[in-house]
Amino acid sequence: MSILDPVWTALLYLAAAVFFILALRGLSSPRTARRGNLLGALGAVIAVVTVFLSARLENIPWILGAIVVGSAVAAPVARRVRMTQMPQLVALFNGVGGGAAALVALLELGHAGDPWVRVAIVFTLLVGAVSFAGSGVTFAKLQELMTTRPVVFPGLPVVMSVVLLAAVASGAAVVLSGSLPMAVLLLALGLAAGLLLVLPVGGADVPIVISLLNAFTGLAVAASGVVLGNVLLVVAGTLVGASGTILTRAMAAAMGRSVAGILFGAFRGGSTAGSTAVSERPVRSSSPEDVAVLLGYAQRVIIVPGYGLAVAQGQHTAAELALALEARGIEVAFAIHPVAGRMPGHMNVLLAEANVPYESLKEMGEINPEFKTTDVALVVGANDVVNPAAKTSSGSPIYGMPILEVAEARQVVFLKRSMRPGFAGIENDLLYQPQTSLLFGDAKDSLAQVLGAVKAL
Ligand code: TAP
Repeated sequence: MSILDPVWTALLYLAAAVFFILALRGLSSPRTARRGNLLGALGAVIAVVTVFLSARLENIPWILGAIVVGSAVAAPVARRVRMTQMPQLVALFNGVGGGAAALVALLELGHAGDPWVRVAIVFTLLVGAVSFAGSGVTFAKLQELMTTRPVVFPGLPVVMSVVLLAAVASGAAVVLSGSLPMAVLLLALGLAAGLLLVLPVGGADVPIVISLLNAFTGLAVAASGVVLGNVLLVVAGTLVGASGTILTRAMAAAMGRSVAGILFGAFRGGSTAGSTAVSERPVRSSSPEDVAVLLGYAQRVIIVPGYGLAVAQGQHTAAELALALEARGIEVAFAIHPVAGRMPGHMNVLLAEANVPYESLKEMGEINPEFKTTDVALVVGANDVVNPAAKTSSGSPIYGMPILEVAEARQVVFLKRSMRPGFAGIENDLLYQPQTSLLFGDAKDSLAQVLGAVKAL
């Protein structure tokens, strides 16, 4: 028996939808993101409770059991995960969402008399399965369970075309006949399409694909809302689909890529080039004291944070160093590349945690013209986002990505542990240039030593 009448159910769903929209608004700025997250969670709680109070549910012990098991797995994982592993976690949750939508659609096929509902089932099955399998591959790439480089084989475009044609044929059969075996075949073809779509994507483009698959999951969930006749699922799925699409386009634009180029570039053999070999050319290495002298007698310093700063958890020391330099009358700014680190906004979050004022964080477009008049660019655990190969080497996996123009600064200092390349796996010529010096070591330790030496000047 349902406790809530349809009017109350609709009102509570409306409230949940409003909370989801307010959540997205909050998440658009680091200042309000925490509140946005809480509002979204509140919307989700209202939605779930409303389902329990309004629908005639069967198998309640199974449903409660699934909720308990899901929460028992997800809560500790989400608590323990390091910020640098967040994209993998997002990929995993996203894939599970797409897979769940596909399973719901499969189970509903037996109740779907209307061919239009079967169209929605076919869409949910296919897109949900693509998202599930594709997200699994992105997880494996980011977790380095497999190579992060594009995986291609001869005949890939042909295999992909056959899979897609077979999916269209089996989808048509499901709509016309409601056949369960055809629906299972469609699910399998969707999984194959997901694998084939993401395997050829090169390392540096993986984050964009995660965002695209996120949009796919949203659309699959919206279509499952049509299947189940649940308006809130349609609204929530559409919001995820729309925001995922906007984020995908924004990230692709920041990387100087087109989304089609990312997905189909490797099919044409475009983004597979790039060398992982580390050359034997000499580099200039420095001591913390040398770097302290360079910084301490500069007029203007730009700090370029990257993934390595997050790994080393050196953000507080970087913030302290900036304060120490400012105390000497030196102008200091942090240059933020849109894909520095391993997730959108990674550097903003990291530096906000260390209370670096928002005014000191300069986006790429704003800071790039300033490198020319900068004495020292201090590159802390960043590599790909300052690699000139993005401009000069048309075969490189990062070719076309806008970079921070650190090479324009009078002196460039890299803080890193070795000569290993960054995420895209390609060498950085800037490390060998005459204006560049390297301070080898863990970023946090190196920053602490430089800070000590600056204070001693
Ligand atoms: P990367 O190019 O990955 O370079 C990181 C550098 O940090 C490496 O050169 C590494 O060299 C150094 N490093 C690692 N741990 C360190 C430590 N403890 N102390 C000091 N240095 C350390 O990073 P980036 O410049 O930030 O570029 C980001 C890359 O990740 C881009 O290719 C981007 O496409 C990709 N990506 C971005 C995202 C998003 S959305 N931001 C998500 C996934 C992937 P050593 O090993 O020699 O120390």
